[in-house]
Parts: sequence; structure tokens; C-alpha cells
Amino acid sequence: MDIESIQKEVEERINKIDSLITLEQLRIKYLGRKGLIAQLTSSIPTLPEEERRSFGQKVNALKNKISTLIEEKQKSLTSISTAVYSSVDISLPGIKYDLGSFHPLTQITEEILEVFLRLGFSVVEGPEIETEENNFTGLNIPLEHPSRDVFDTFYLDVEISKNQAPIAENRAASSEQRLLLRSHTSPVQIRVMKTRKPPLAVVVPGRVYRPDAVDASHSFMFHQIEGFMVDKEIKFSHLKGVLEVFAKSIFGKEIKMRFRPHFFPFTEPSAEVDISCIICKAKGCSVCSYKGWLEILGSGMIHPSVFKHVGYDPKKYTGFAFGMGVERIAMLKYGINDIRLFFENDLRFLKQF
Ligand code: DAH
Repeated sequence: MDIESIQKEVEERINKIDSLITLEQLRIKYLGRKGLIAQLTSSIPTLPEEERRSFGQKVNALKNKISTLIEEKQKSLTSISTAVYSSVDISLPGIKYDLGSFHPLTQITEEILEVFLRLGFSVVEGPEIETEENNFTGLNIPLEHPSRDVFDTFYLDVEISKNQAPIAENRAASSEQRLLLRSHTSPVQIRVMKTRKPPLAVVVPGRVYRPDAVDASHSFMFHQIEGFMVDKEIKFSHLKGVLEVFAKSIFGKEIKMRFRPHFFPFTEPSAEVDISCIICKAKGCSVCSYKGWLEILGSGMIHPSVFKHVGYDPKKYTGFAFGMGVERIAMLKYGINDIRLFFENDLRFLKQF
């Protein structure tokens, strides 16, 4: 085939091309390393001496011509595709995807834990299925205590065998062996103290369960954060200092705090802690029942019986403990009036956090 007809053939082919991909295929066919031009060039030395020069010039001219044609075609194809794009109105709003975020309870839990981490506490978690011993007996809660009643605790229909694995049936065994859904996070005190020696400062976040009828302020499942510190010479004043830092970090520097005597079996003395009402600034409103104070947690000095149960010498060590409801803290902080909102997955509620 002579050079002129090759050029014609290329021109015709390029004319018909309508995509950059086929144009590239054509470029490889003619200008590629093993393409037609390369073949023609390598055939030059086989020609008679006097033809080589003019044939070489023709091949070179053909090569330049094809390059130019490809370049031009490339430009026109690219400008067509831009034209297609510019028919799309890029000023139209795009499709907006919702960003996920942390649940408000997760957010407040992290905020609370951070305060205690700053104070040198470490975070420990315990299982939601507990033994009756850790949930009650070890915490000095006697058998006849109402919270141990089947109406106040979810007992499981399994027991633990000696090797700790739950086994079904065999309810004749001692009630100490019953398993239950923990009704508070305090049993983690027992777990930690049985496996570690003082000094220790621990906070425990987690779910707890109680067979309460669900209403605006009750849920059969909710969250608590437990905290405790044990060492030689831990005093009530340490408890006050730690809780004051906590309350002011979460509710603001201006709030006041008070300790109100109370009873818990696992602490002595015990106190409930109130903060001045953040809604009415202690003047009295419906949130604080016109008392000016809001209860936020229970606390006290760890009872010597608890220390004895875990094998600590109560003459050597003292400690404080406290426990709070996470939903309650979040409800007070954000002015939420119904605990059910946390668990209904209503995006109108969740998106506000
Ligand atoms: N466990 C208690 C409850 O669920 C809360 C509590 C009170 C925990 C006093 C404590 C404490 O550690 O010292 O009601």
C-alpha cells in the first residue's frame, strides 16, 4: 500500500471516530511502538539505496500528518464532552446525605467519663448478666431487701455451675447462684476490688435493668455511671471535691451542690447529692417541684462489710463510691422531659444533638 492511500485511510477512519477510547486505539495501531509507522520505518534499510531517502521523508511526513489529525480529533472530542457536561445545571442543590452522629446518651456518657479521666480515674466495664452475689450480697444488701424481690429485679432462668458456665434447670441450688440482669452498676465495685489491690479510682459506665412500668421517667433498661476510689485515708472530703468538679463541669460553674443524708446498704455514711435547679436557678419551678434542688446521684463511704467481702482490711483502707443515672443527667442538662425519647429512635429528637 502506498503512503498516499494509507493517509487517506487514516483520515477516513479518524472522521468516523466518536470516542477518545477508539481514538487511542487508532493511535496505537499507527503510531504505537509496533504500529504501522514503526513497521514502515524499520523496512527502510531493506530498500534499494536510492529509494531510502525519499521513502523515509514520506514516512516521516505521514507520521506528522497522523499526529496532527489525532490531536485535532482529540480536541474536538474533549470539547463535545464538556458541552455535554455544561448542559447539567451545576448550581442545582445536590442530593444531601444525612451524617450519622453519636446518640445523646453516648455523648453525655463520654463527657462525664472525660471529667473523671482528667481526675485520674480509669474506666472499667462489667457484664450485664450478674450473679446475685455481686449485685446484692457482696454489696451488703440483705436477702430481705425489697430490691431483691422478683418484682424489682430480672432474674434469669439459669444458674451458674461451679465452673462458672450458666446451666439451665436445677433451681434447687442456693439462691446465691441465681443469675440476673444487673439492677445497677455497683456490682462492678465487687469485681474490681476482688481482682485488684488499692489504690484504685475507677468509673463504670453501663446498662442496667429493672422491671419498672415504662413512663415518662421510668424505663426497664437505662444507664448508670458508677465511681469509686479506695486507698489509705480516703475521706468524705475527697468525695465532695471529686463530685464538685464533676457537677460544675457538666452543669456549669455557677451551680451549687448539697449533700443530703440518705441510706444505701453499701455505703456508710451515705448521701444523695443535689444541685441547685439549673432551670429556675433555685427559685422554684415545676422541674424541681418548687424545691430549688435537683437530685443527681447517690454516694457515700464504702461500707466495711463490702471491704470484708472482697478481702480488703477495712481498718487499713477507706473509700468512697457514687452512682448516677445517665438519662437523668442528660434530661436535666438538656431539658428533656420524657426518658422514652432516648429509646424511640425518632430522628426529630436525635438530630438535635
Ligand atoms: N447503686 C445505687 C442505685 O442504683 C446508686 C448508688 C448509690 C451507687 C450510692 C453508689 C453509691 O456507689 O455509693 O440506686
